[in-house]
Amino acid sequence: MHEGLSPGRIALIGIMGAGKTRIGEMLAGQLGLSSIDTDSSVAQRRGRPVSQIFSEEGEAEFRRLETQALEEAVKGEGVVIACGGGIVELPRNRELLQRCTVVYLKVSPETAAIRCGNGAGRPKLRSPVATSIVALLDAREPLYERTADLTVDAEQPEDDVVQQIMQGLQL
Ligand code: S3P
Repeated sequence: MHEGLSPGRIALIGIMGAGKTRIGEMLAGQLGLSSIDTDSSVAQRRGRPVSQIFSEEGEAEFRRLETQALEEAVKGEGVVIACGGGIVELPRNRELLQRCTVVYLKVSPETAAIRCGNGAGRPKLRSPVATSIVALLDAREPLYERTADLTVDAEQPEDDVVQQIMQGLQL
């Protein structure tokens, strides 16, 4: 955890398919915190799904909205923030994440590919999905590692992932 920061603001990062949204909801439930998902915040704000924002307005616009969603989210206390997989790419987002205890949900590219299926609803994935995930993970892994306060093996059953986060953060 970064110095002087509230343990009541936890951010989950990792590649698509790592389970950030689901684990975020479960962790928030266990800890009595509220949960926010940056993708949902963006979609809600624009009134259309993320995939449509990508196709109609472009990735740059999505990233702008994603940063706005994160800016809003880190104003909250007592919150678990499930972040979109690409959030670590922008320096501004990494700076905002310093206001949180950041947990990296780590999965292999193979697991991520299986969980993402054919990539429907995930505009960053092109066919073949597995190749896209390998490329994205290659580029992002160092950023996930560098941004995280805690790394958890997210290949395990969801309950165990939640337990490991709580143990790792001494909650
Ligand atoms: C993206 C991941 C998605 C979503 C958008 C872009 C990425 O979030 O933000 O499709 O660049 O990896 P999830 O990781 O929740 O699927």
